[in-house]
Amino acid sequence: MQIEYLNSGLEELNRELAAAFSGACELSAEQMSACRWAVLDMPGAADAPDGVQQELIGRLEAARQAARERGLGQVFGWCMVGAQAAATGQWDHQDDCALSAVTNFLREVVPTPASVLDVAAGTGHCSFPLAADGYNIALFDSAAGFLELAVKDADRQGLADRLDALLCGTFADLPALPDDAYDACLCIGSIFYLPSPHQVEQAVTQLARIASKSIVFDVTSKLGTIRQLGTDDSDFDFSPSAAEEILSTGITPPGKPEHGREVYSCFSAAELRHLVEGAGMKLQQLVGYGSTANETSDILTRLPPQQRTHIDQLLTGDDAALDRAPNLLALCTKAK
Ligand SMILES: C[S@@+](CC[C@H](N)C(=O)[O-])C[C@H]1O[C@@H](n2cnc3c(N)ncnc32)[C@H](O)[C@@H]1O
Repeated sequence: MQIEYLNSGLEELNRELAAAFSGACELSAEQMSACRWAVLDMPGAADAPDGVQQELIGRLEAARQAARERGLGQVFGWCMVGAQAAATGQWDHQDDCALSAVTNFLREVVPTPASVLDVAAGTGHCSFPLAADGYNIALFDSAAGFLELAVKDADRQGLADRLDALLCGTFADLPALPDDAYDACLCIGSIFYLPSPHQVEQAVTQLARIASKSIVFDVTSKLGTIRQLGTDDSDFDFSPSAAEEILSTGITPPGKPEHGREVYSCFSAAELRHLVEGAGMKLQQLVGYGSTANETSDILTRLPPQQRTHIDQLLTGDDAALDRAPNLLALCTKAK
C-alpha cells in the first residue's frame, strides 16, 4: 500500500532520512541510535564514530537543518526514529495508553462496521486491536518509517485487508481531510507534543470535524507533570518558575537536553472539559492514567505560597483524582 503524502516538505524529509539509514545498513541498531543522539547533542552519541557513522551523522544533520527550514523541526526527531525503525524492522514502543478503555469505548459508541482514523498512529499499536475486531483503519503520522513498518505488521497479523489508507502529514495538515471522513478519530500518546495548548485545541477541533461520531485522545496533565518535575522519570528539571509556567501557560519549560525534548502542552481536567466542549464534542468519560511515580516527592512543598494556592485548587477540587494522574484520556461523542 502506497503512502499518501499531505505535505511535500515532509515527503522530502522522510525520503532523506530513509536514504540516510539505508545507506548505513551495516550499522547495528545501537550504532544508529547513537548517531541519532549525536545529531540531537545527547549523551550516548558515538564518541569516535567510524566512517559509516560519521556519514550517517552528516546526513542526519543536513536533514535536520532542512527540516527546520521547512518548519518541520518539531517532527524531525520522531521522523528519525521512524526511519531507523523502518531500516531495522524494529520499534518496541509499548506505552501504557489505557488501551482497553479506548477499545471498550469505541466498541460501544461506534460499533462495526465502522472506520477509524488513527492520528499520530506510530505503527498502529492503538488501532490494530480495533482492526482485529473488524474496524477499517487508516493511519496518519508524520514519520513515514512508522507507516511502512505498520504495513508489515498488518501483513504479519493478517490485518492487511482492514488497513484502508496510510497518510503522511503533521497535525497542521489535518485540514486537508474532508468533514466526517471517518466514524471515529483516535489520537493517543502524541497530541501533547504540540508546543502550545492553543495548537492542541486546533488539532482537537480538526479531529472533531473529521470524525462523524466520536473522538478519543489523551493529554498530559498539569499537576501530573509538575509532580514529576526533577525526578528521574521527568524530562524536566524542578524549579518553582517551571511549575508556575506550567500552571499559568500549560507549556512545559524546555526538556532536559539529554532527552532531546522540546516543550509540550499540559491541561487540567477542567481545561480539558472546556476544550472538548469548544470543539463541539460531548465528553462521555474522562480517565486519568499512568503511573504516579512521585507520591513521595516533596516538590509541592517546595513551592512558594502563592503557587501552592493554585496547586491546592487542583489537589482538592472536584477533579482532584483526575488531576493527580499524569495523563488524561478524553472519550468523546459528537454533540447533537
Ligand atoms: C509516542 S508515539 C505514539 C504512537 C501511537 N499513537 C501509540 O500510542 O503507540 C508519538 C507519535 O506521534 C507522532 N507525531 C509527533 N508529532 C507529530 C505531529 N506534529 N504530527 C503528526 N504526528 C506526530 C510521532 O511520529 C509518533 O509516531
